[in-house]
Amino acid sequence: MSLFELFSRQAPNKVFLSILLGIVSGIAYALLIPLVTSAIGGPPDMLEELHSSTRTLLGLEVRQFKFAQLFLFLCLFIMCTKGLSQVMLAHVSLDLTTSIRSSFYQRITDTSVDALEKVGMSRVNTAITTDIARIVDGVRVIPELLVASVTILGLLGFLAYLNASFLKFIIEAMVFGVVVYQSLMRISRRHFEHSRKKMDELQESIRGLIFGAKDLKLNARKSRVFHDDLLLVNEDAVRRSDKKAASVIRLATSFGDMISFLVIGSVTFVLANYVKATREQLVGTVMVLLYLAGPLGVVMNAISMITVSRVSLRKFNAVFDALPPEDINHAVTEPAPWNDISFNRVAYRHQAADASEGFQIGPVDFTIPKASITFIVGGNGSGKSTLAKLLTLHQLPDTGDIRFGGVRIDKSNIKSYRQAISAIYSDYFLFDRLLIEQHEERRQEIGRYLDELKLASKVSIMDGRFSTTKLSDGQKRRLALLVAFLDDKDIYLFDEWAADQDPAFKDVFYRSVLPDLKARGKTVIVISHDDRYFNVADQILVMESGTLTTCAVPAQRRA
Ligand SMILES: Nc1ncnc2c1ncn2[C@@H]1O[C@H](COP(=O)(O)OP(=O)(O)OP(=O)(O)O)[C@@H](O)[C@H]1O
Ligand SMILES: [Mg+2]
Repeated sequence: MSLFELFSRQAPNKVFLSILLGIVSGIAYALLIPLVTSAIGGPPDMLEELHSSTRTLLGLEVRQFKFAQLFLFLCLFIMCTKGLSQVMLAHVSLDLTTSIRSSFYQRITDTSVDALEKVGMSRVNTAITTDIARIVDGVRVIPELLVASVTILGLLGFLAYLNASFLKFIIEAMVFGVVVYQSLMRISRRHFEHSRKKMDELQESIRGLIFGAKDLKLNARKSRVFHDDLLLVNEDAVRRSDKKAASVIRLATSFGDMISFLVIGSVTFVLANYVKATREQLVGTVMVLLYLAGPLGVVMNAISMITVSRVSLRKFNAVFDALPPEDINHAVTEPAPWNDISFNRVAYRHQAADASEGFQIGPVDFTIPKASITFIVGGNGSGKSTLAKLLTLHQLPDTGDIRFGGVRIDKSNIKSYRQAISAIYSDYFLFDRLLIEQHEERRQEIGRYLDELKLASKVSIMDGRFSTTKLSDGQKRRLALLVAFLDDKDIYLFDEWAADQDPAFKDVFYRSVLPDLKARGKTVIVISHDDRYFNVADQILVMESGTLTTCAVPAQRRA
């Protein structure tokens, strides 16, 4: 999508009106010069009457009163029209910022977890904080560019009236100026593109600076290496590219400023010797040229902002496209009743970042009966969390099928079946509020769970919001468990939930929480390394290098 499309789509009427007001003010602006030049110079006969009157206003003598009145009126008119046009544009820009951000939020919501993890936090962050602001800045100057262009055209029209030969020379000089300016801008855009690429890497190091702060504090040498060889190197790369880009832009701008004076000099000292022109025509031309500098400056500035903006737009679009909406049916319907979840020859392969083959899980076959407890165990990197992602339907398998009862999970129903699942992953995120409706029964339920999870003295919930989330790791995980309980889903998956619980609460979790869930008809899947509690399970799935080696019933149960 082009920059202008973005703007005109947002509020076509407002943009049109603001451009119209801008143009009107531009024309009025251009009219100021002939007004002043004819007030200074000798009046043509028909304006004689306008010139003659002198009046006193607020104790001051004002000559050529009618001209002065007209001048004042034009000034006020320009102020109002230009002001209104700018206010409207500012509003549309802010609306546009929100609208781009909102559609980006929606995109992030609709994309797959896989795509989101691949793009990563840093790129998403830069797109939101840097690119959108730059895009909108670039878009905002487009109407100003149009208005300034109209003013320039108006001034050129006046030049044509003054002296056609001067006009020809000035247009040629302007074309030359624009071509040189554009070439310089192309160079600066290349540097901006490079700086923008480095910005993503810088964001990633800033993440390290914040999230790795504790580690860095414990190791001065590591901290220095991180600062000097990574953070500052990235910062320096951004600075150097930005500096080069900014230098070229400044150079281009001062070239633009200078060229109008060179043209004035050429007209005054050289061209005037070859072209027949009266003194008034010469003075008028010089005034127009001086006046031209303003709108020409706006045009140059607009071009440089649009240059930066286009770089950001391209980057933003790349991130946007890397987060395609999940190609699934988004309508949620009630799933058909089911008695078991079965995996039949299910295989899934992670895409590796490099050319190597990604980790593959499966083909695996197993069945999880409803209202049972299943443990998934196995060494680190054996594929338990990957299997958990398939179980919680974040992705469909590459081959084989997952069935809930007799129903095969596919694009048409995956979202509906997801709604039956509650999971606490090892990298879970605890929202600072419940995001579900509150009523008296729910409040009592929450109170009960807070007691049960031994959190009542630490956290309270007011209007659906936790009083604090500054809790110990184990307490935070218990709060996540409370949130999961409140969801009241059919399937619960816990990925190493108990890893940071104290022995007493571990016991509560395995011996009381899990059997309670089962007793309430929930299907419970637990990824665990706690072999002391494997006898709680109805079955154990053992993963090894992506394959299921055993689907065992614990010895105690068999006995
Ligand atoms: N998003 C991903 N993209 C590519 N490869 C991945 C991705 N996530 C995991 N892997 C790879 O898949 C393999 C299995 O990872 P997984 O997280 O499933 O292991 P795990 O059994 O849960 O291990 P742990 O006990 O350490 O949690 C690992 O070798 C890992 O490198
Ligand atoms: Mg894992």
